[in-house]
This record gives sequence, C-alpha cells and structure tokens, in this order.
Amino acid sequence: MGAEKCDGYSKRVLVTGGAGFIASHMIISLVEAHPDYFIINLDKLDYCASLKNLEPISNRPNYKFLQGDICDSDFIKHLFETENIDIVLHFAAQTHVDLSFRHSYKFAYVNTYGTCILLNAAYGAGVEKFVYISTDEVYGGSLDKEFDETSPKRPTNPYASSKAAAESFVLSFWERYKFPVVITRCSNVYGPHQYPEKVIPKFISLLQHNRKCCIHGTGHQTRNFLYATDVVEALLTILKTGKLGEIYNVGTSFEISISQLARELIELIKDTTTDTETKEWVEYVNDRPINDLRYPMKSEKIHSLGWRPQVHWKDGIRRTIEWYKNNFHNWKDSKQALEPFLCDS
Ligand SMILES: NC(=O)c1ccc[n+]([C@@H]2O[C@H](COP(=O)([O-])OP(=O)(O)OC[C@H]3O[C@@H](n4cnc5c(N)ncnc54)[C@H](O)[C@@H]3O)[C@@H](O)[C@H]2O)c1
Repeated sequence: MGAEKCDGYSKRVLVTGGAGFIASHMIISLVEAHPDYFIINLDKLDYCASLKNLEPISNRPNYKFLQGDICDSDFIKHLFETENIDIVLHFAAQTHVDLSFRHSYKFAYVNTYGTCILLNAAYGAGVEKFVYISTDEVYGGSLDKEFDETSPKRPTNPYASSKAAAESFVLSFWERYKFPVVITRCSNVYGPHQYPEKVIPKFISLLQHNRKCCIHGTGHQTRNFLYATDVVEALLTILKTGKLGEIYNVGTSFEISISQLARELIELIKDTTTDTETKEWVEYVNDRPINDLRYPMKSEKIHSLGWRPQVHWKDGIRRTIEWYKNNFHNWKDSKQALEPFLCDS
C-alpha cells in the first residue's frame, strides 16, 4: 500500500483504545506483521485498560503509546497536526452495557461526542481511511430474523444507542464529503486481555477464585462469540479490501446461551462430571433492565472479501482460561469487576 514516507514508514496508523481488549490484539498484529507501518496507540488508560496487554511489542521501533482522551479536542487537533496520520482505527469507547444504564451521559459523551471530535480532526488532516469499530448491538435483539447491514438500527441500551449515534456521524462524513470511512459491526468477542467485567472472563475468573458464576436473569439469552484474533483478521481484511462508505457485519455461527456457557466453563475449570456438581457453581442474580435475547446476524458481505473465523470455540476457550490463570491482576481493580450487577445501586 503506497510509497515509503520520509520517516521510512509507508503508513502511520492511529489506533484508539489500544490498551483495551480488542485493539491491543490489533496493535500486536499490526506491529509484528507490518514493520513498514508506524503504530500510534492513543488511550486514556481507563479502568479497563492495561499496558501489560502491549508488553510483547512495547519496545518495538514502529510502536508508540500516547496517553490522551479522544474527547479533548485541543489534544486531538494537535495530534493530527503533528503525527501525519494516514489511517485511523477507532476502538476507544465505554463498552460495558451494565454500566451504561447508570452512566448513559458518559457513554454518549465518550462514544458519540468523542467519535465526532476524532472524525473532525481526521477529516481536517485528510486521512486516507477511518475505520469505526461498532457493534451488532446497534440492531437491538431479534429471536429469528437475521440482521444484514441494511437492517434498521434499534438499539435497546445506552451503550448500543451511543454506538449507533456515532455510526450516524461517521456515515454522514461519507455522505457529505466522501470522507473515506468504513464501519464494522462485530459480534461478541472473547479471548485474553479482556477486563473481567464481561461475561466470559468474569465467569472464568469467578471460578478460578472458587466463586460461583452469577447469571443475569434466566440465562436463556444467547450470544455469538468470536475469538479476538479472528476479529483482528476480519479488521485487517476490511482495512485492505473493504469498500469505502460501507458497513460490514463481522459475525459467527457459533452461538451459546449464557447458562450453557456457565456449564461448559464449570466443567472445564472445576472438573465437574454430574449435573448436581455443576449446578453448585451457579447463582442467579437480578437481570439488567433489558437484556436482548439474541443478535442473529448475516456476515455474507465480509465473507465475500475472503474472511471466515478460524479459531474453534474449544481451542479459543481453553487458551482464554489458561491466560486468566496468570493475568487476572493485570488491572488495578480486577476484583471489583467480579461483583454482580445491581440495577438500582
Ligand atoms: N468486546 C466486544 O465483545 C465488542 C463487540 C463488538 C464491538 N466492540 C467494540 O470494539 C471496541 C473495543 O472494545 P473492547 O471490548 O476492546 O473495549 P475495552 O473496554 O476493553 O477497551 C476500551 C479502551 O478504550 C479506552 N478509552 C475509553 N475512553 C477513552 C477516551 N475517552 N479516550 C481514549 N481512550 C479511551 C480505554 O482506556 C480502553 O483501553 C469498542 O468500540 C466496542 O464498542 C466490542
């Protein structure tokens, strides 16, 4: 892609939220596979971030970390004026649905307003591609109808609403200025590096600390889970061959109910062999104000670019369990993440 620049790098890539879960995997892959790219990781280092996620590449010459806030317009403007950025991969966000019910303003501020700040600065600097990492949650839930990229957005929680609003701003820059944007809508992601507030690392960590899995509501709700490196491959595919101005679903046919997920993790971590033994490791807590039952999604559009998930659930979940054995304390307040969600606190 493109000619070498005077600093010796062919592309300068800004990744926002790179000390978080998915973006840290993305950065490791880009830094290792693309020594001709210079990667700038911009992260505020919020509670869910850990620079330990970047240890494998933190001393590489084609990588640099900047602590900063996407909502700080002066800082972001200066960043684009001085860093000569070609590509933006925008991951930074408030991401925990449970917290969004209590802190909807904060979610709107970071996820929507912060994206506008970044968009305006990137547009002003004339970057060649702006990839916005969105979510399948913008569709809202569905029991049977599979969503494709033309399905209407019907978000049902403040997190999804703030992501949907941000998407609208991103697309409006394409409509108005043909500013080169691409949007991805991803299913749930799992793997190492994820702050243990989300269901898979939370259940794993609870069990590894001899505590029960706390299931919200009935546990009948299902989720589709993709392994982190599969998502990285999807994003690399879209970065290289995705069409500008388009939206791409990034999904998987692997779907599991939360109660089945708990059962499988208990069997793997606690070596239980009977139903009675397994049930002893489960407790039920109050549900969220709204908890979508399913997010069925078609991904033919990204399949046509040649991407398919590669990591089988059995392998991915074993690798994830193994990683949390030694890395639970990578964040300052990991223990806090294990408490059940209380709707009215
Ligand atoms: N995790 C999933 O299952 C999933 C699924 C679909 C889409 N997504 C999207 O992918 C992106 C990354 O998700 P994740 O789960 O890796 O997130 P995460 O919560 O692990 O990390 C988010 C990162 O953003 C940083 N951040 C937050 N506010 C910031 C700000 N104002 N300025 C700069 N940095 C800030 C945090 O410090 C953190 O490092 C998000 O946009 C999310 O909506 C995630």
